[in-house]
Amino acid sequence: MIVDFATRTIRRILVGKEQRFVFTRKENIAIPPLSQIDLYIHIPFCRNKCPYCPYNRIDYDVNLVGPYTRAVLSEIEQYFLRLGKIKISSIYIGGGTPTTVIDELGVIIKSIREKFAITGDICIETTAGDLNEDIIRKLKDFGVDLISIGVQSFDDAFLKILGRNYDAAKACSAVNIALSSNFRSVNIDLMFALPGQNIANVLDDLNEALKIGANQVTTYPLFTFPYSSVGRYLKIRKVKMPGIFRLRKMYKEIHNFFKQNGYQRVSVWGFKKGGSPRFSSVTRDTYIGIGAGAGSRLPDVFYLNTFSVKDYIEATLTGRLPIALAMDMTPKLIKYYWLYWRFYDTYIDSQQLCEKFGKDVKLKVMFSLAKLLGLAKENGNQIELTERGAFYIHLLQNHFILNYIDRVWSAAMKESWPDKIEI
Ligand SMILES: C[S@@+](CC[C@H](N)C(=O)[O-])C[C@H]1O[C@@H](n2cnc3c(N)ncnc32)[C@H](O)[C@@H]1O
Repeated sequence: MIVDFATRTIRRILVGKEQRFVFTRKENIAIPPLSQIDLYIHIPFCRNKCPYCPYNRIDYDVNLVGPYTRAVLSEIEQYFLRLGKIKISSIYIGGGTPTTVIDELGVIIKSIREKFAITGDICIETTAGDLNEDIIRKLKDFGVDLISIGVQSFDDAFLKILGRNYDAAKACSAVNIALSSNFRSVNIDLMFALPGQNIANVLDDLNEALKIGANQVTTYPLFTFPYSSVGRYLKIRKVKMPGIFRLRKMYKEIHNFFKQNGYQRVSVWGFKKGGSPRFSSVTRDTYIGIGAGAGSRLPDVFYLNTFSVKDYIEATLTGRLPIALAMDMTPKLIKYYWLYWRFYDTYIDSQQLCEKFGKDVKLKVMFSLAKLLGLAKENGNQIELTERGAFYIHLLQNHFILNYIDRVWSAAMKESWPDKIEI
C-alpha cells in the first residue's frame, strides 16, 4: 500500500500526470545507422519450467529447436542487412535455459562472428541442473567469457519448494566445474525470502556461496508475478512468505555479509569479489534483442518481439522482423530510463547526472530528501545509495516492475500481435 503510493507519487512528480507508457502495434522499425550495439539473444526452452519464473519460456521441444534456431539466424541476418558489419560491444544469451540447445548456440555465435565484429564479452545464463563438463567445454570453445548459474539455494528443502530439478550436491558440482574452467567471471544466482526461510537459512546459503568461491553472487528476493503459477503452487504447499520486515532484515544481513567478506556491491542485488568483470544482464543503454519476446532499445525507440514462439518462427522465417509492439522514447523517458538503471547500479555519476538533467529542481529536491532520510550519500563525484537506500529503491523498482512492466508482458504473452498496450 505505502509502496504503491510512493511509486505513483514518484512517477507523477517525475514523469507527469499525463505521460503514459504506450506500446503500439508496429511491424517495422526504421533502424538508424549505428556503429556499435549490444546484442541480447533469447532462448526460451527449459527442461524444467519453474513455477515462480516470469520470463518468456516454453517446455523444451526437440521439434521446435531446429525452426527456432533458423528463425534466430534469420533475424540476425536481417539486422546485418540493415546495419552492415558493425561492432557488437557485448552479447548476452538469456532465457529460459540457453544451454538446453548447446550445439545450436555454437551455430548462432558463429553466425554473429561472421557477420559482425564482436568487441566485448559473451555472457550466458544457465541453471545448475543443466550444466556438465561437456556443456562447459563447448561454451569455452564458443568463446563465452562470463557465465551465470541459477543455483537459487544450496539447501535441498528450498530447492524442492522452488520446484528445481536438482539437489545441492549437483549445484555444487556444476559451480565447481564452471569455476575450474577459466571463465572471466562465474556468477551464481541465489533467491531469498523464500516461503518458510529464516535468516539462518539465508546465511547458510551465503556461506556456501562464499566457500565455493563464486566471483559474483546475485541474490534476488522471490517475487510473485500474477501471471506466473507460483501463487497457486505455493498455496498448495500452505507455506508462509516472509513479510516486509523480515525481508528488510534479510537484505541487511546479506549486505553486511558481503561487505565483511570483501565483496563489493555492483547492483541492488549483486556482489562481486576481486577484479573479475561484473556480470549484468539488464543495465546496457542500447541493445538489439533477438528471439521470442526479446526487447530492443535503440536511441529513440523501445520495441518488443512477439512473445509467441510459434508466431516468432513463422514471422521471422518469412523474412521480416518479428516486432510486435513499440514505444517511442521521448527525451524525458530517455533520461528517466537512464536514471532507473543507475538506481539499479546503486550509484550515479554526479557529472553525468548534471549533464542529463541540468538544473531539474524536482530531482534536486528528491535527492536532498533521499540524503536527509539516509537513503543516499555523496561519495567523491558519485551519489551512492546507502544499504537502506538500496533496499527501499529495490522495493520501489520491484513494485514498478510488477505494476507496469508486468502488465505489458502479461498482455504480450496472451496475444501475439496486440494493437495497443497502455500503462
Ligand atoms: C532469467 S532467470 C534464469 C533462470 C535459469 N534458466 C535457471 O533456471 O536458473 C535469472 C534469475 O532470475 C531469478 N528469478 C527468476 N524468477 C524470479 C522470481 N519470481 N523472483 C525472484 N527472482 C527470480 C532467478 O534467480 C534466476 O536465476
